[in-house]
Amino acid sequence: MKTVLVTGAAQGIGRATAERFIASGHALVATDISAQALDDLRSLAPERIVVLVQDITADPAPKEAVDLAVARFGRLDVLVNNAGVGRPRPIHETDDDGIDRFLDINVRAQIRFCREALGVMKSGAAIVNIASIFGLRGNAGAGVYSVSKAAMIGLTRQMAADYGPSGIRVNAVAPGLIKTPLTADRIDNDPAFRRQMVETTPFPRVGTPDDIAAAVHFLASEDAGFIAGHTLVVDGGWLVANGQRKA
Ligand SMILES: NC(=O)c1ccc[n+]([C@@H]2O[C@H](COP(=O)([O-])OP(=O)(O)OC[C@H]3O[C@@H](n4cnc5c(N)ncnc54)[C@H](O)[C@@H]3O)[C@@H](O)[C@H]2O)c1
Repeated sequence: MKTVLVTGAAQGIGRATAERFIASGHALVATDISAQALDDLRSLAPERIVVLVQDITADPAPKEAVDLAVARFGRLDVLVNNAGVGRPRPIHETDDDGIDRFLDINVRAQIRFCREALGVMKSGAAIVNIASIFGLRGNAGAGVYSVSKAAMIGLTRQMAADYGPSGIRVNAVAPGLIKTPLTADRIDNDPAFRRQMVETTPFPRVGTPDDIAAAVHFLASEDAGFIAGHTLVVDGGWLVANGQRKA
């Protein structure tokens, strides 16, 4: 049974991704900083899911999670580096703590999880990093968040080059606007945000966590067996439409 490690699995994109891998028969290590929702996730398939409450930025976090996968299921086949934070400020309003927060949670922790996973992954394994459309283009006010997601795309390319020879594929998904606890309030209550992100998406609906989970699942699967170093944009066409939609 293939084993998947998903960070930030308690809600939003991570939760949908965890559920999709469970539905397709995988074993799962689900980690998050928030405990209660993880227990609820575990109840879906207690014999195939182990949960771990951890802050991904803590020094022991990657080793704890990878060791748990190996101890409980004997292997690690897929790492989904999903946990991350949003709500950036423009660069001129970002203090040093703000810089550190985005880089620690959205970049440094992901690199450390990749490094730990490489220690046990075998040929056929896959890593999927969650980036963002804001890692591919600038966007007003996206600040260090944008920097952090561009770093995910760079990490993905570099690791694909370095570990492809070992049979390990590394890819990224770049979500557009997805309705999750991170974004729901602005989608529902911020007209300027809706104009910038919702009304300018060609495909006439808001993205769902399942849209991203499906892309992650595909990139981790044998169907994507010759795809490496790729960033798959899942945004209803927002990026290519340059912020315009025909009425
Ligand atoms: N929602 C979107 O529109 C969108 C768009 C592009 C990219 N993304 C990316 O997708 C990923 C998931 O986003 P989401 O919208 O589901 O967010 P979310 O806030 O709904 O869920 C993120 C999860 O990560 C966990 N988490 C946060 N910091 C953590 C830490 N230090 N240690 C452990 N767990 C931590 C949270 O507890 C939460 O369960 C993030 O990397 C985000 O940047 C989201």
